[in-house]
Amino acid sequence: MKSESTPTIYDPTVELPEDLVLALFNIYKIYRTSEVETVALRGVTLSLFKSENVVCIGSSGSGKTTLLNIMGGLIKPTAGIVFWTPVAADISRFSDDLITRIRNQFIGKVSQKSNLLPHLSVLKNVMLGGYIGGYSRSKLEKRASELLDRVELQRYKHHNPRKLSGGEKQRVAIAAALINNPQIVLADEPTGNVDFNTGEAILDLIREINKDLETSFFIVTHSKQVASRANRVIEIHDGILAGQHEEVDLDNLNHSRIITADEQGRILLPMEIIKQLPQSTYFRASVKHDNIVLAPISSDFSPKRVVFETKEQRRIICPICKTENPGKKILCQKCGSLLRKAGRF
Ligand SMILES: Nc1ncnc2c1ncn2[C@@H]1O[C@H](COP(=O)(O)OP(=O)(O)OP(=O)(O)O)[C@@H](O)[C@H]1O
Ligand SMILES: [Mg+2]
Repeated sequence: MKSESTPTIYDPTVELPEDLVLALFNIYKIYRTSEVETVALRGVTLSLFKSENVVCIGSSGSGKTTLLNIMGGLIKPTAGIVFWTPVAADISRFSDDLITRIRNQFIGKVSQKSNLLPHLSVLKNVMLGGYIGGYSRSKLEKRASELLDRVELQRYKHHNPRKLSGGEKQRVAIAAALINNPQIVLADEPTGNVDFNTGEAILDLIREINKDLETSFFIVTHSKQVASRANRVIEIHDGILAGQHEEVDLDNLNHSRIITADEQGRILLPMEIIKQLPQSTYFRASVKHDNIVLAPISSDFSPKRVVFETKEQRRIICPICKTENPGKKILCQKCGSLLRKAGRF
C-alpha cells in the first residue's frame, strides 16, 4: 500500500491537476543487445504541465534522449507508466499503431537536424504531418501558411528547404511540429546546429508559442543558453532524476537544485556534497526540527564490502618488484615475474 502522501496516478480517487499534460511514473529503460545491457533510465518520475518550458540537462549518455523518446511514445519503457492526458491512460502498453494515432494530435517533435524533405517545398513540409490527422488539403494549406507567418518565413513558402539557412530550417521544423496544434513539443537539441544569435531567435519563438498557444515544451540540451530560458530545468544523472531547478543557477547548480525522495524513499545526493563530508560513506539518518540529518559514522565502522571492478580498473601488484600492472597481464611488465597462477584472475 502506498502512503497517502505518495498517490500513484492509477488511484481513481486522486484528482489529477487540471493543467497536467503528461506524467511519467517510475520509468525504467534497459537496452539489451547480444553483448551488453545498458540501464538508461532508473525510476524516473516526472510531470509536465500546460504552457511549461522544461529543459532537461545532463552529461552525454545520461539518458536524456531516451527520456524524451519515452515521453513521446517513440520507444517503450521496460517498466513504468507513461500517462498521456488526452486518453487519460498509460500508453506504454498500447499498440504502436494506436500510439502513433494519438501522438499525431498530441505531440510535435523537433530534432537537432530539421529533417525537412528536400523534394518538397517549405509549405508542403509544414503540411506533411497534418495529412495523417485527416484534414482537408485546403485547411492544411491555410494552417501551414499561418504557421509560416508565425515563424516569419512566409516569403519562403514555395522555396526548396535546401536553400534555407540552418536557423530558418529549424524554424520551419518548429512550424511543422505545430501543424496539428499539439499540446506538447518535444525538442532534442533544437539549437544544436545554429550560432548564438540564431539560437536566441529560435528560443524567442519557442517562448512566444509557449505563451500564445499554451503549448508545453520539453527540450533536451547541452546548451546553457537554452537552459537559461526554461521555467524549470531538470537534471538527469546516469538515468536518475538528480534534481530540479525553478530559477536555475547555471554557474553553480548546487545553489538552485531541489532534490526529491523517490517512491522507494531514495534520495540522490550530489557528488559535490558527498565529497565535502569526511571519508565515510555510511550515515545515520534522523529528523530534527523538520530537517533530515545525515551524520557520518565514525571511521571504526567498517563492514566488509565486496567491490566489483572491471578488467580495466583491476591492477595486479608484482610480488617481486612491487610494480603495478594492468589486470589483464600475466607477466610483470617491469621484471617479467609471473603475476598469477595460470587460469586464475
Ligand atoms: N538503441 C540503443 N541501444 C542500446 N543502447 C542505447 C540505445 N540508445 C541509447 N543507448 C544507451 O543508453 C544510454 C543513454 O543514452 P541516451 O541517448 O538517452 O543519452 P543522452 O543523454 O541523450 O546522450 P547525448 O547527450 O550524448 O545525446 C547510453 O549509455 C547509450 O549508449
Ligand atoms: Mg541525446
